[in-house]
Amino acid sequence: MIPIVKPFLPELSLYNAQVGQIFDRNYLTNNGPVLRELEAKLAEYFGVPHLLLVANGTIAIQIALMALEIKGKVITTPFSFAATSSTLAAMGLTPEFADIDAQSLNIDPKTISEAQLAHSSAILPVHVYGNACDVDELASLAKQHDLKIIYDAAHTFGAKYKGKALLSYGDAATISLHATKIFHTVEGGAIAFKHKQDYEKAKQLINFGFDSNNMPNLVGINAKMSELHAAMGLCLFEYIDNITSHRAELFQRYQEKLDSLVYMQEYAETCRPNGAYAPIILANEAELEGVQEHLAGLAIQTRRYFYPSLSLMECYKGAGDTPIANDICSRVLCLPMYYELSFEQVDFICASVSKFLTYYRGRK
Ligand SMILES: Cc1ncc(COP(=O)(O)O)c(C=O)c1O
Repeated sequence: MIPIVKPFLPELSLYNAQVGQIFDRNYLTNNGPVLRELEAKLAEYFGVPHLLLVANGTIAIQIALMALEIKGKVITTPFSFAATSSTLAAMGLTPEFADIDAQSLNIDPKTISEAQLAHSSAILPVHVYGNACDVDELASLAKQHDLKIIYDAAHTFGAKYKGKALLSYGDAATISLHATKIFHTVEGGAIAFKHKQDYEKAKQLINFGFDSNNMPNLVGINAKMSELHAAMGLCLFEYIDNITSHRAELFQRYQEKLDSLVYMQEYAETCRPNGAYAPIILANEAELEGVQEHLAGLAIQTRRYFYPSLSLMECYKGAGDTPIANDICSRVLCLPMYYELSFEQVDFICASVSKFLTYYRGRK
C-alpha cells in the first residue's frame, strides 16, 4: 500500500530525551522553554522577526484575524481547504469569493470586483500547494483600498518567493504544522506578523487575553501550543534539510514523468516547488475518477484535495461566482507525497497513471 501521506517521525530516542527534560521540569505548557526555543529557531529559519506558535493552523488564521481586528467581509478563494473559509464564517465574518488563476491555482486579483474591494476589510489569499500568490498585485490592491492581507500560508514550509520565505509577505501569514505537513509539531501552527504590535496583541489573545499583569483585558481564547508538541518540532529541526530537499526532488520526478500527460500547476517565477503536495489536473472529472479507481486497485491512495470548490457549498451560497475554481476542483487529484516515498515508488505511480490514461484516452 502506498498511502497518500505519512507523517515524518524523528528517532524515538531524540523525542524521549526531550520528553525526559519536560518531565524533569514538570512544565508542560504556557510559553515554556521548549516552545520558546522552537519559536526562535523557526523565526530564524523563515527570516521573520515576529513569529508566534499556536495550537494549529486553523486557529492561527483566527488569531491573525482577531489581532488585526478584521470586520465584515473578507475576500478569499474557494480553492482551498475548508478551514480557510470556515474560520471566517465561524468568527461571524463573511467570505467573498474571487476566482483563481487556472495556471497558478491562486486567487486571481483580476477577478476581485470593485464592489468586493470597496466593501471588504481584508483579503485572505492562499499560497496554494506552496506556490506564491501574486503578492505584488495583491499588496497594491490592498494599499489602494485600505485592506489588510492575511496569507493562509498553510502549505509553504520551505517555500520562498524573491528570496524570502512566503511567511514574510502580508500583514500576517499563517502556517500549519499538522502531522501531515513537511515540518510538524503533531498539531500546531504559526503566525508571522509584519508589525510587532500585532504580534504582541496576538500573544495576549492566545492566552485568554491576559496581559503581563495577568489581567484579561482583551477578549482572547486558548490557542497555546504545549511543550510536548513543541518538542516534536525541535526534534524535526535536525532533519529539515533532508526532508525539504527529498520532497522537492520527488515533486520534480512527478513533473518529469507526468508533465506531458496531465496539467500541473505553474509556479511563480523564483518560487521553487517545495513538495508539499503532488497535484495533477486531469482533463475532466470522469477521467479523474478513472485514475483514482485504477490507482486504488493498485493500492495507491490518492486524495481529491481540494474538492469541492467552497463556493459550491450550501453554507457559502451567494458568496461569489467562481467558474474556474469550480472546474479545477472537479479535476484535481493529489498523488502520494511524503519523505519516505522513494523515486521507484513515484515511477510506479506515474507509470500506472500513464498506462491508465493511454488506455482511457485511446477508447474515445
Ligand atoms: C490551506 C489550508 N489552510 C488551513 C489549514 C488548517 O491547518 P490545521 O490542520 O493545522 O488546522 C489547512 C490544513 O491542511 C490547509 O490546507
